[in-house]
Amino acid sequence: MFENKIFLQNNHITIINDINAIYPLLDSAELIITDSNLKYYYKSLFAGKNVIVIPAGEKSKSLKIIEEILSKMLETNCIRDSLILGVGGGVVCDITGFASAIYMRGVKHSFIATSLLAQCDAAIGGKNGVNLNNVKNICGTFKQPENIFIPINMLTTLPDDEMTCGLAEVLKTALLADKELFYAMVDYTGTDWKRDIEFLNYIVSRSATAKSEIVAKDENDNTVRRILNFGHTFGHALESTLSVPHGQAVAWGMLKAFEVSNNLGLIGKDRIVEIISAMEKFGLKNEFEYDKEKIKEYFRKDKKRKSDIIQFIALDEIGSAEIIDVHFSKLDEIL
Ligand SMILES: NC(=O)c1ccc[n+]([C@@H]2O[C@H](COP(=O)([O-])OP(=O)(O)OC[C@H]3O[C@@H](n4cnc5c(N)ncnc54)[C@H](O)[C@@H]3O)[C@@H](O)[C@H]2O)c1
Repeated sequence: MFENKIFLQNNHITIINDINAIYPLLDSAELIITDSNLKYYYKSLFAGKNVIVIPAGEKSKSLKIIEEILSKMLETNCIRDSLILGVGGGVVCDITGFASAIYMRGVKHSFIATSLLAQCDAAIGGKNGVNLNNVKNICGTFKQPENIFIPINMLTTLPDDEMTCGLAEVLKTALLADKELFYAMVDYTGTDWKRDIEFLNYIVSRSATAKSEIVAKDENDNTVRRILNFGHTFGHALESTLSVPHGQAVAWGMLKAFEVSNNLGLIGKDRIVEIISAMEKFGLKNEFEYDKEKIKEYFRKDKKRKSDIIQFIALDEIGSAEIIDVHFSKLDEIL
């Protein structure tokens, strides 16, 4: 069994390459939260356990589902010492973290991250959020998980388009903080990266490590951690107004962020061409029919907005980003 442990501040991340290693982890939980797809693919994992199954998909990131989970916690006598285990993608991670943070003012929680996006990003960092009135992650908490388990082999059942979505967040982290990872992706010559376990192990461990290192410097998202929102200003707006999957929306958001960055005199056109070619190689779509007015309206709901100024994450170079105050009009003109 391949096992790679990365121990980082409050995050205990374990990459697992043997699905059988998951069974004892499930035994340690008082309550398991998963979604309908995971329950379908991995029925035997959940047999005989105290499980709450939420409908798969972004719509489950709601206060209504949180209330259902809290009721189940109460009904099954979860107490302060109980461990709540989220088994799933970014949606399950977000709602498990949020429910665990508010039940009894905080019970322990861990994740078994099963989508590429959760393994490289959503499960890491202790930020948890749900949506309200179609605004992404507008309610949330900060609470670090006890453990994050990453079973790479569970990606074998993840649909191809979800793999592509996860790749967008890997690329984001590479562009922000890991130039070597970016060029490993550019140089990748395999025929099917989605089913190449060695490559997946590499990109997940690099991006999980890079994200953890950024989080360790600023757990509560007051300074440097904000760079992880690269591509998310435009991305969240597209995701919410057009129901585009998170990863594809972030990829499009990054394209727009390259343009803003270039207009600010930062990353050069030649580098942008290089990144776009990598995005195309990994199947990231770059064109959507969107409603400009709805996107502009969405920008104005940004959590970190000050009057008409937004804190924008701009790319200086591959592997380096900065936070810049930008007037909304600068974003509007890119649309
Ligand atoms: N909290 C954070 O720091 C953070 C960071 C990035 C993204 N997010 C959030 O994460 C969410 C996106 O995450 P996601 O793309 O994982 O979405 P998701 O949880 O909806 O998973 C995508 C789909 O893949 C299925 N799935 C997951 N693992 C599977 C497996 N092993 N086999 C078969 N099917 C599987 C799910 O059932 C779902 O249908 C968004 O809501 C986003 O806002 C949170």
